[in-house]
Amino acid sequence: MKKNPFDLTGKNAVITGAYQGLGWGMAQGLAEAGARIIMVDVHPEIDEKAALFRQRGFSAEGLCSDLMDRESRSELKKKIESTLDGQLDILVNNAGIQIRHSVLKFPIEDWDKVIELNLTAVFDLAQWAANLMVSIGNGKIINVASVNSIAAGINTVAYCATKGGVLQLTKTMANELSSLGVNVNCIAPGYMATPINTALVEDSGRFSELSQRIPAKRWGQPEDMAGAVVYLASEASNYVCGVMLPVDGGYLSR
Ligand SMILES: NC(=O)c1ccc[n+]([C@@H]2O[C@H](COP(=O)([O-])OP(=O)(O)OC[C@H]3O[C@@H](n4cnc5c(N)ncnc54)[C@H](O)[C@@H]3O)[C@@H](O)[C@H]2O)c1
Repeated sequence: MKKNPFDLTGKNAVITGAYQGLGWGMAQGLAEAGARIIMVDVHPEIDEKAALFRQRGFSAEGLCSDLMDRESRSELKKKIESTLDGQLDILVNNAGIQIRHSVLKFPIEDWDKVIELNLTAVFDLAQWAANLMVSIGNGKIINVASVNSIAAGINTVAYCATKGGVLQLTKTMANELSSLGVNVNCIAPGYMATPINTALVEDSGRFSELSQRIPAKRWGQPEDMAGAVVYLASEASNYVCGVMLPVDGGYLSR
């Protein structure tokens, strides 16, 4: 094991949904730990965001891809493979969306969108990464689940279904891949102050109801994700397989 088991120097990491929010916070953690990061996002200015890291002396590049689209995902995989010469060490499957409707009126078109990005794309990229990682004998796959993987929400039936799925997908992949040198784990953020939650923050009743339930008495920030992702991406977690690590200010313990 390295002198600093959290050191990611020499590792190649791909992180999706890195333009803003939790993905941005985790990209920062991975870069500061020494990894070369490829930041993927549907936002066309993702490489401008990566340039902020380059200006600080880190190795970062941004690739624009709509992960809801299967063809875009295929092109992205080819591009990353050629950029990294097949040497993918870390995948953080973070991109996700929320669409809110009552369960009685949830349109099937919106259900399909949430499932495609939050669950199918997670599986598709994890499967691709796993094949690359098995061929080199090691790797770390980190999926972003949610406290909604365990405790469901309201008006969020598709989202909660995907996050429950991400947890089981993580555990199943770990069952098959742990003996092949690939660790598959997930992080479950709690209520974090990012754009995905604008509707919740603007609903004062629900906001205060949720805030009161958080033992840490505050919503999380993107930088709160950095330690967890670096740990699961590093040698320090080599014997950690198929876990869900909550980063939730204690929400799930209540
Ligand atoms: N914020 C929270 O409270 C919270 C809680 C639990 C889990 N999560 C999960 O964390 C992850 C990140 O959430 P966030 O709060 O940072 O959200 P966010 O909306 O702030 O950021 C999501 C990022 O994903 C990108 N993205 C959206 N659709 C995409 C697509 N089709 N292709 C590629 N990129 C796309 C966005 O451009 C954005 O940069 C999600 O999986 C979310 O479900 C968030």
